[in-house]
Amino acid sequence: VTSTPIRGFAQSPTSGLSAFEMLLSPITIGHVTLRNRVVLLPTGTGYTNRGRVEEEDIAFNVRRAEGGVGLIITGGTTTDSSSQNRGRVFIEAYDPDVVPGLRVRAEKVHAAGAMIFGQLFNLGRHHTSDVVAGVPLAPSALRSHLYPFAPMAMGEREISQVTEGFALSAHHMAEAGCDGVEIHAAHSYLLAQFLARSTNRRTDGYGGTQAGRARLLIETLRSVRAAVGHDFVVGVRLSVDDETVNGTTVEESLETVGLLENEGTVDYLSLAVGVRGKYVKDASNPDGVALERIGLVKRESKLPVIASQRIRRPGDAEEALRRGDADLIGMSRALIADPDWVNKVQSNTPARIRPCVGDMQDCRNHLAGGLGCMVNPSVGRQHVLDSSRGELPVTAPSLRVAVIGGGPAGLESARRTALQGHDVTLYEATSRLGGQVLLAALNPARGEFLEYISFLEAELAHLGVNVVTNRHLDVVDVADLRCDLIVIATGATGSTQGDTERGHVDSPPSVALWDLLGGADVSNSNDVVVLDDGSGDWPTLTGAILLSHVDRNVTIVTSSSSIVRTVPTESVAGVLDNVEKLDVRWLTSATAVTPFEGGLEVLRAGWSEPERLRADLVVEERGRTPNDELWRTLSKTSLGPPVWVAVGDCLSPRDISHAVRDAADFALKLQRGTYSSKDEPMDSPPLLVASGDS
Ligand SMILES: Cc1cc2nc3c(=O)[nH]c(=O)nc-3n(C[C@H](O)[C@H](O)[C@H](O)COP(=O)(O)O)c2cc1C
Ligand code: SF4
Repeated sequence: VTSTPIRGFAQSPTSGLSAFEMLLSPITIGHVTLRNRVVLLPTGTGYTNRGRVEEEDIAFNVRRAEGGVGLIITGGTTTDSSSQNRGRVFIEAYDPDVVPGLRVRAEKVHAAGAMIFGQLFNLGRHHTSDVVAGVPLAPSALRSHLYPFAPMAMGEREISQVTEGFALSAHHMAEAGCDGVEIHAAHSYLLAQFLARSTNRRTDGYGGTQAGRARLLIETLRSVRAAVGHDFVVGVRLSVDDETVNGTTVEESLETVGLLENEGTVDYLSLAVGVRGKYVKDASNPDGVALERIGLVKRESKLPVIASQRIRRPGDAEEALRRGDADLIGMSRALIADPDWVNKVQSNTPARIRPCVGDMQDCRNHLAGGLGCMVNPSVGRQHVLDSSRGELPVTAPSLRVAVIGGGPAGLESARRTALQGHDVTLYEATSRLGGQVLLAALNPARGEFLEYISFLEAELAHLGVNVVTNRHLDVVDVADLRCDLIVIATGATGSTQGDTERGHVDSPPSVALWDLLGGADVSNSNDVVVLDDGSGDWPTLTGAILLSHVDRNVTIVTSSSSIVRTVPTESVAGVLDNVEKLDVRWLTSATAVTPFEGGLEVLRAGWSEPERLRADLVVEERGRTPNDELWRTLSKTSLGPPVWVAVGDCLSPRDISHAVRDAADFALKLQRGTYSSKDEPMDSPPLLVASGDS
């Protein structure tokens, strides 16, 4: 590594550095100098078409380059047709036809000032997203618990196939104008399956000892180096701790790194922890969860190290560099949530970074529709929503906008209209902003949702939005508002009768889950049945957890086959672990519920006899009802000049991301001057103001 003069600060953190000096300082890897030490980690977007890169993927990466990162390592691309799924969602780096598309991406990223490396992988035995198209390969024919089909144990022919696939793919990345490639040997993919004792049972030269297990990686790197020469960066991504029984340990990783260093084929290491299904850590994990373990390897290695996993805040990133845990800071989700992360650090406004809240609802549960983000609706629609950025001067008359409701739809509508230069007042009926997010955040694993609300609140203050709390507005009040545009974001409340055809339980005494979350008194109960509505989602789990915290005996009953049916995969283990520790019991596929004296009878699928559960209280997930009275009344009333729009749950109760997306869609129409309410065509000149979206 050729580094900047301040590299030595890793050993002397108290010297007079400005707040983010190390993070923002350049660094050289191989022959490539990066403008700073912030790296967009490989982020598979799913914006592909039959193995080819799509415009949206290019836009996603370019936007992060424009946002100031030093290096973009693009989402994993497959090096072999055996490691592709039938939908061909992975970019096929082994096919020369991909080069023109990748070249466009590389050129645009370069034009925006960042360097670009392409990540290369072979998934081996791990396929979770779709049905594998070819014959999955692995060191040993051991089936993954994540995938039903056993892989083929590789012979000599397949070993050549794999090394040649990596080399050819690296050659294509170089042809496409990338500055380097990263060989994916982490997350228990093929090369990591070779590295780990648990998955490599070979008795030939590719197993047995750590050196044997590292042999395929080393041979792959030799082939890649031979294909790309020495003026091209080659890095390796490793999980330094698999966090599994007999998986790779830090000590073994140190040995592997030593072997790689002796070979001299590698320019950098990107280090992580965890295996497939567990390496994207949710908010139940602490910030910087892997740093200590990464630091152990970094301190023993001469190679520059990129650290990763739950690094979100500039201060934490700078600290990690100064402590010497890493030379570069890698982030995926923090940069999904706010592409301008680096720009905001550079302009010394880190408090204005829109936080990633670690829920993974839209970025990891995305496989069908491509990457999304709960707090950033531009993700996936970058070219539509993000055509202009920054707080550009207003070039059209400013409107007086009244936003009614301080949940995410109202807050985001207020933020976006204020960024467009309008004069905005937000009215919230309660004393606190956040709406239903305040309830969602009651789950300890989702407490970070409040950071998003705090961010929006601070942004509104910064943008001069007038926020009025404790102010309920009915239709008469609204008619009196002196404004040009009303945004109705009145949200939803718990349904009293239940929003499904099932109706609700009367006996034993029941309370709606919504009311429980709102603080209903449960002091007279001991044995509580929490009746899920079949969605297997967070609200039921949150209710059960809160009841356990106050020492109730809790049983969850769901008609779904799982109590975590819609929880993102990478949160499932943590959630189940938590409810198990809290002694929560659960019954799945419970299809009939009948009350008896002192409890409930539950009939489970496949059982001839119902099971009797003691219960003195039933907590029911009855769903939510939109607070639509205001906009429904307005739609029958002629208000005169103000036009109105309704956004978020008051139309149909959905996720936070839907609320935020509604707000973004409305603001885009406003920006383009194409907005009109159904009944009142917008009666103002076309708006030429620029959106301040980022
Ligand atoms: C949507 C998404 C796609 C990802 N795709 C890849 C990938 O293709 N290759 C890879 O090595 N890691 C991938 N990762 C993992 C990230 O590179 C990163 O290691 C992980 O998200 C932890 O970092 P973070 O906490 O900053 O998000 C992906 C993560 C996300 C959220
Ligand atoms: S969806 Fe959630 S976890 Fe994923 S990047 Fe956005 S805020 Fe972060």
